Amino acid sequence: MVGKITRAYEREVKEGDVKMASPKFGMSILFFFLCISFCSSTDQSFRQCFSSHLPPSNITYDVIFTQNSSQYSSILQSSIRNLRFSNASKPRYLVTPYNEDHIQATIICSKEHHLHVRVRSGGHDYEGLSYISDVPFIVIDLFHIRSVMVDIKNEYAWVGAGATLGELYYSISAKSNVHGFPAGSCPTVGVGGHISGGGFGTIFRKYGLAADNVIDAKMIDVNGNVLDRKSMGEDLFWAIRGGGGASFGVIFSWKLKLVRVPPTVTVFKTVKSLEQGATKLVQKWQNIAYKFHHDLFVHAVIQVTNPNSNQNPTVQVSFDCLFLGTTERLLSSIQRSFPELGVTQENCTEMSWIQSVLYFAGYSIAESADVLLNRTTQSTQSFKGKSDYVKEAIPKTGLEGLFKMVVEEETSVLILTPYGGRMKQIKSSATPFPYRSEYLYGIQYMISWDVAEETGKRIGWMRRLYKYMEPYVSTAPRAAYFNYRDLDLGRNSYPNTSYVESSEWGLKYFNHNFNRLVRVKTLADPHNFFWNEQSIPVLRLE
Ligand code: FDA
Repeated sequence: MVGKITRAYEREVKEGDVKMASPKFGMSILFFFLCISFCSSTDQSFRQCFSSHLPPSNITYDVIFTQNSSQYSSILQSSIRNLRFSNASKPRYLVTPYNEDHIQATIICSKEHHLHVRVRSGGHDYEGLSYISDVPFIVIDLFHIRSVMVDIKNEYAWVGAGATLGELYYSISAKSNVHGFPAGSCPTVGVGGHISGGGFGTIFRKYGLAADNVIDAKMIDVNGNVLDRKSMGEDLFWAIRGGGGASFGVIFSWKLKLVRVPPTVTVFKTVKSLEQGATKLVQKWQNIAYKFHHDLFVHAVIQVTNPNSNQNPTVQVSFDCLFLGTTERLLSSIQRSFPELGVTQENCTEMSWIQSVLYFAGYSIAESADVLLNRTTQSTQSFKGKSDYVKEAIPKTGLEGLFKMVVEEETSVLILTPYGGRMKQIKSSATPFPYRSEYLYGIQYMISWDVAEETGKRIGWMRRLYKYMEPYVSTAPRAAYFNYRDLDLGRNSYPNTSYVESSEWGLKYFNHNFNRLVRVKTLADPHNFFWNEQSIPVLRLE
């Protein structure tokens, strides 16, 4: 089989635009509209199918919500983070499983009823792919699957895919103040999407990505089988740790390796405007931040300041630090390596690791860690994000041009995240996330807006900015972070996708790891049931 795939892959690369295997379950849009008039009988048939695939003790209909259900809208809206998609096409059913059986039955019945499946954990997908689709679909929303079992003695945790990062961090800190987990800063992000797409945060220079710290996983595959690491095999286990879970199945839970954090960590924040020399500081930051000690993380956040006052808007750069140790150790390191920042004891605050989680999430450190359990933070804005990676420091003229563009849009935010440290030590093929040793830092570009009419203007600005940055960032491929999904990079055609077509975006996210992902996908889901606009394609086997 593997030999067959290698031959198919070589043939497709050689022939260029060869069509990929098409999803067997596809329905035309026309059929979708005809189908609406037979809704209730179809709904009944879906429910019957669902119950017929459950053990008698587990039968329930309370997990399937049709568009007529009174709770449908509130469940659907509950974790839409990007309002750009709040009026997009709606799923035919929302399924909110409590256990593996419900997911198995949903997969089997979706195939029987020719429905696509979208899986949602925290709903933070930048392009809304966990809850929108142009073809008839259902959403499996995992918000009930969120138990967190922490074993401090053996330093691991089992966490349900529908749990948020906040719930994970809270549960760890409830048992230990010297353990943590290296993942993102936003507490409402779901572990299902985040870890399967990589996942980085303030301690990743010391411990790597969230995906680098997965020990085992439970996943329901296209045939409804519940797999663990052993039964899925090392290739599939490799693929779901950075290659995006949605291409391969429904991840039910992760077993995570907890990391040891010191009882005291230190934070500081130093903000400088262009007039206060921010350009020079960013120039220097680019050359040193990736070389700092693993314990030291200083990212640079670029934003517009004075946007609404009488003064002319300008750019400010905030250097935000988390240090895994005391102020004394931090100062001896930062005053030596980055004296221009002018950090003193007064700028520094010592706290526990869980307080640093609150701090980077924008809460007061005096708040109870309970706020991390709040998963219903509703967004009131639309946004568009993009990403880049930098291999060589951007020259002064490049930064000046960048800042000029940033001033044009008062709600723009750029976050420059330093690499190096542990990220440099992990092989670029260890997981599908390839951007390790050669990269100084990553950039996230973000713009948000309130009014739907502004969408074109704001996205237009974002695309111009991305074009402007081209000479200064990585090339061949121009690297991008999968978890900052960007459909401008390319999208799969429906129902047929060529390898060449999908390489447009696939190589940018995964570089040399893309081909292995394609091979794994071809074996795991040969009929491309788990299709989406940026799912890994399937090679056609003859
Ligand atoms: P969502 O539920 O939308 O899923 C995202 C994708 O994963 C979809 O394709 C979905 O189908 C799939 N998926 C979800 N659960 C699955 C499951 N159980 N099985 C299979 N597939 C599944 N990133 C980062 O690295 N560091 C950070 O600090 C942040 N911070 C941040 C803040 C905010 C406000 C946003 C909006 C986003 C971030 N991110 C981030 C990006 C984040 O990591 C990315 O959007 C994740 O995919 C979100 O995962 P969710 O489960 O929340 O999203």
